Amino acid sequence: MIDSNSSQKIVVLGTGGTIAGHSTLVNDNIGYAAGHIGIETLTQGVPGLAQHLQGQILVFEQLAQIDSKDMDFAIWKSLASRVAMLLVEPDVQGIVITHGTDTLEETAFFLHSVVGSDKPIVLTCAMRPASALSPDGPQNILDALSVVMDANARGVVVVCAGVVHAAEHVQKMHPYRLDAFSSGEAGPLAWIEEGRVRWSFNAKPKRALIRNALTLPETESWPQVEIVLNHVGANGKVVDALLIAGVEGLVVACTGNGTVSNGLMASLQRAMAMGVKVVRSTRCALGRVISISDALVPDSKGLSPVKARVALLLALMK
Ligand code: SIN
Repeated sequence: MIDSNSSQKIVVLGTGGTIAGHSTLVNDNIGYAAGHIGIETLTQGVPGLAQHLQGQILVFEQLAQIDSKDMDFAIWKSLASRVAMLLVEPDVQGIVITHGTDTLEETAFFLHSVVGSDKPIVLTCAMRPASALSPDGPQNILDALSVVMDANARGVVVVCAGVVHAAEHVQKMHPYRLDAFSSGEAGPLAWIEEGRVRWSFNAKPKRALIRNALTLPETESWPQVEIVLNHVGANGKVVDALLIAGVEGLVVACTGNGTVSNGLMASLQRAMAMGVKVVRSTRCALGRVISISDALVPDSKGLSPVKARVALLLALMK
């Protein structure tokens, strides 16, 4: 903990990821173990941390210690309820969550959908492990703290490589580059420059509370929602197999403006006739499915396939 006279607290929740990764070789930026270094050690080791704060006390909690490819509903539920409980504490100014980059956009959108708050919840990450010659995590942590301390910050946002992204739009676009994330056509919410946050002219973080984090049901009862892809030769057999497995919701990563092969569409219609909810997104990296009024299958209202899955999962919860 950092001593301070201020009563304001920033809570730093660790979940693992490359930012907490370690390799025995300093020049190894890919062959490391993610989720290795504890959140307090990781954060306290950031050069210039004490000078960066404006008197806040940092409080650390290790929520998980995983590679985010293994993120699951149980961790999501405990993370969401912990965040919701912390935010109502009057002395908590905001929350930083360290997370692996691989599923960060899903966790960000999930939290955005279940936690309604005017306080900032800032997810950050790194593309290089903490043991790297030149790790990117320390700067990302300082930048995330800058955003929490900014008077205009609110809701769930993602900070990586000096850019602030909205949970709704952020997407991992690159498997290796340090600036791995993009908000696509929506553009960034803000940039962090020397500890100062410069907001974009159209930055209006939206609240999208689909469910309340504190009333989420036990994870065993969360509905099975899967993503299927339209591609050359897609014949729908995967949908038939998912129906046998008890799927309750399907997101289709469609080609182009929400198109689906005849074979896949026939199996989706069988699924809908059996009560399965189906939503169309697009596999295109930019843009969105443009709605038409008589579409057989509704579109995802601009959400990417993985985020449309989160929205459908929450919508289908009993
Ligand atoms: C992970 O997602 O946990 C590993 C990859 C990363 O953080 O960049």
